[in-house]
Amino acid sequence: MTLKGRDIINIGDLELDEIELILDISKEMLPVARGEKRSRTLDGKVLASLFFEASTRTRLSFETAMHRLGGNVITITGQEGSSLIKGETLADTIRMADAYSDIIALRHPREGAARMSATFSSAPVINGGDGAGQHPTQTLLDLFTIREELGDIGKQNVTIVGDLRYGRTVHSLSLALGRMGATMTFVAPDMIQMPDHIISDLKGMGAKVKRTTDLKAEIPASDVIYMTRIQKERFAEEEEYRKVAGAYKLQVRMLDDAKKHMMIMHPLPRVDEIHPEIDSTRHAKYFAQAFNGVPVRMALLKLILEGE
Ligand code: NCD
Repeated sequence: MTLKGRDIINIGDLELDEIELILDISKEMLPVARGEKRSRTLDGKVLASLFFEASTRTRLSFETAMHRLGGNVITITGQEGSSLIKGETLADTIRMADAYSDIIALRHPREGAARMSATFSSAPVINGGDGAGQHPTQTLLDLFTIREELGDIGKQNVTIVGDLRYGRTVHSLSLALGRMGATMTFVAPDMIQMPDHIISDLKGMGAKVKRTTDLKAEIPASDVIYMTRIQKERFAEEEEYRKVAGAYKLQVRMLDDAKKHMMIMHPLPRVDEIHPEIDSTRHAKYFAQAFNGVPVRMALLKLILEGE
């Protein structure tokens, strides 16, 4: 199978060998991503970057990736910046982006919006996050970061912490890690634990998973601790959010019995889940992780637009 022309909506759209290929090409992209080498691989191609929900890293790294490969970018940020605010449908907006560009990166607050958009576009659609659904390109950069730091993916104990109900990054990530054989512990208040349908998919693929509320107990055995933000904007009631806000805060003193190589990841933005003191410890990998969005999205854009 080739990735050329494909939509990337859910992480399950990619076979494991396709994920491996993307990670291999991401590695090759590093010197160009860092600006040490120049590339014109996507000369003349246009990315439509449509972000109908807040974004810093995903949009900027998609756009940087396109620029670094010599391509061009057109962009919409926020519903207010487009004719959606006038009442135009998402379908019509997508039809226009399809007409003007070669590939679309889309973020939308509604789960399922990316899958729906792909049916209105002949240009490939990449899901940059659909509500509480999935975030497959974040998963690719998460996997790339684990592979760069710890080698083979799948041998680790991965502890995933925070808002596992509404967090789209952890939905995609756990489904990928499950296929790769990793052992996962989901740490969250019961109200925002990993949804049953994902747990049952994970068990169906034979993944070793458990749910708990106790972060401290999981630290010594963890190779990776993946922190996430409580997704305030997805709660129906502010009062419900307040019940779980600040549930887990990682502090330096909690890391005394952590493994030496244990890496702390976070898709960012963080609110108060990771104390800034941790930033200068050997465990902090979240800024390197965020940078990896560039080479990984370069690899994806190249493989989808040009093939291997
Ligand atoms: C995440 C997202 O948008 O889902 N951020 C990102 O893309 N790096 C996580 C979040 O918003 O908490």
